[in-house]
Amino acid sequence: MTKILLIALLLASTLSAEYTEKVKLPSITFKMAKDDNFKVMQRNCQWCHSYGYITNQGKQSRKFWNKSVVKMRDVYKAPISIRDEKTVTDYLFKHYGNGELE
Ligand code: HEC
Repeated sequence: MTKILLIALLLASTLSAEYTEKVKLPSITFKMAKDDNFKVMQRNCQWCHSYGYITNQGKQSRKFWNKSVVKMRDVYKAPISIRDEKTVTDYLFKHYGNGELE
């Protein structure tokens, strides 16, 4: 019984521990190129991570970008339609492409 009381007391004491200083988290905005397909990319790519994941890849081939989009769908289960897969790949290659198809 004493053990249970001690455990309960310990749990309750950690619950009431709090940090009172104000914490300011940095907010980083990644500006993406705007064109007619921007919204399609936004609709498909903004949910799970920042656009930094895209811009940090540097200029890449069309094949690279297509594989990335397909990976988001097949591995991470992003609901990307076949039509949007092509549009987003076109968008990424146009703005973040290196000119190489393969
Ligand atoms: C369902 C969630 C989800 C969506 C939606 C999503 N991603 Fe990702 N993405 C992930 C996860 C999870 C990772 C891996 C994170 C890690 O390893 O830290 C990732 C990583 C990446 C990377 C880093 C390289 C790699 O292959 O791991 C790129 C580039 C990327 N995503 C691009 C995109 C693009 C482009 C879209 C839109 C078509 C998109 N993501 C939409 C979940 C998502």
